Amino acid sequence: MPHEVQGVIARSKGSPVSVETIRVPDPGPEEALVRVQACGVCHTDLHYREGAITDDFPFLLGHEAAGVVEAVGEGVHNVAPGDFVILAWRAPCGTCRSCLKGRPWYCFDSKNATQPMTLADGTVLTAALGIGAFAEVTLVDAAQAVKVDPTASPAAAGLIGCGVMAGLGAAMYTGGVGRGDTVAVFGCGGVGNAAIQGSALAGARKIIAVDIDEKKLEWAKGFGATDTVNGGQVDPVEAIKDLTDGLGVDVAIEAVGRPETMKQAFFARDLAGTMVQVGVPDPTMTVELPMLEFFGRGGALKPSWYGDCLPSRDFPMLIDFYLAGRLDLDRYVSETIAIDEVEDAFHKMERGEVLRSVVMFDAAR
Ligand SMILES: NC(=O)c1ccc[n+]([C@@H]2O[C@H](COP(=O)([O-])OP(=O)(O)OC[C@H]3O[C@@H](n4cnc5c(N)ncnc54)[C@H](O)[C@@H]3O)[C@@H](O)[C@H]2O)c1
Ligand SMILES: [Zn+2]
Ligand SMILES: [Zn+2]
Repeated sequence: MPHEVQGVIARSKGSPVSVETIRVPDPGPEEALVRVQACGVCHTDLHYREGAITDDFPFLLGHEAAGVVEAVGEGVHNVAPGDFVILAWRAPCGTCRSCLKGRPWYCFDSKNATQPMTLADGTVLTAALGIGAFAEVTLVDAAQAVKVDPTASPAAAGLIGCGVMAGLGAAMYTGGVGRGDTVAVFGCGGVGNAAIQGSALAGARKIIAVDIDEKKLEWAKGFGATDTVNGGQVDPVEAIKDLTDGLGVDVAIEAVGRPETMKQAFFARDLAGTMVQVGVPDPTMTVELPMLEFFGRGGALKPSWYGDCLPSRDFPMLIDFYLAGRLDLDRYVSETIAIDEVEDAFHKMERGEVLRSVVMFDAAR
């Protein structure tokens, strides 16, 4: 019997999202049905509704979530009903050419539920990042449900499912930030602040936060930024050089998704420095660089998909860090909202008023 529940749907490019009745099937083989407790509003949800990711409308949005497993299908061994889980948008398949090369964090064929969720009239929904968690229950591949310590707050835990993991991993894994490194982070939203926290956890000595919004820069200090630069008022490349004895940083992390900030991150590096791009561009964006600068500066330019994380390894670890007081996740939660307030939350995000709005479902209220 399919479950009829409310979900947040983006029907067409740029139109406001709406709350509609959706149908979620019972789990088939390898699938898990999860009762969602909390789901953060990530900028990527807005990218979906802007048509900047794919054209496969209608979308069931939401992908930064924690909840409780309600039922599992045949052949599921990693989770059982009652388990508290964070949903991951990477569940390595184990058989693609990247997994077989021993690099499952790049898996090219991540697992998702095979049965579709639909609107009440049967229209098939595309679940954002294979999750679709702005819904009271959602259907995922069981490997996407990662069991963590149930004493963690759902609102905080859910954030690990996307933005926080992407930012922490951009610093710790993709950027390889190490003890004594200098780092600059461009864009201090949820993702950028997590990159700041990840740099601090990895032992960076200087962490320069760059944003165009003073409020964001103030918040960034709370996450561990040692210096701040307002990129709307000064040239951030020059300011970063001034803060690093004229050298530039070892690791520059772009967490906006715009050509100008990518270029700034490129030029803000020291020789042989690493640039990480974790911000998601839209398909119209291009960047032009002098080839000699690319060659002459050396180092590495690295896109970061989900912070190169392995959810089964990283989510339980990060929740343990959180419970031990070593990773402040509550600080990201600017507000908790109801399912019909996602469109408002997009506007608050665009106006820079929030780090994370988190939809709370009845199950957690
Ligand atoms: N690569 C991944 O796996 C992954 C995962 C999650 C999110 N993302 C992407 O990361 C990006 C950031 O996500 P978020 O949720 O933190 O978004 P957000 O909107 O909360 O934060 C973006 C920040 O960038 C700042 N900004 C805008 N223009 C700027 C400029 N010119 N210079 C400096 N700062 C500027 C804004 O003031 C804001 O603080 C988005 O593009 C999102 O899609 C990527
Ligand atoms: Zn794979
Ligand atoms: Zn996201």
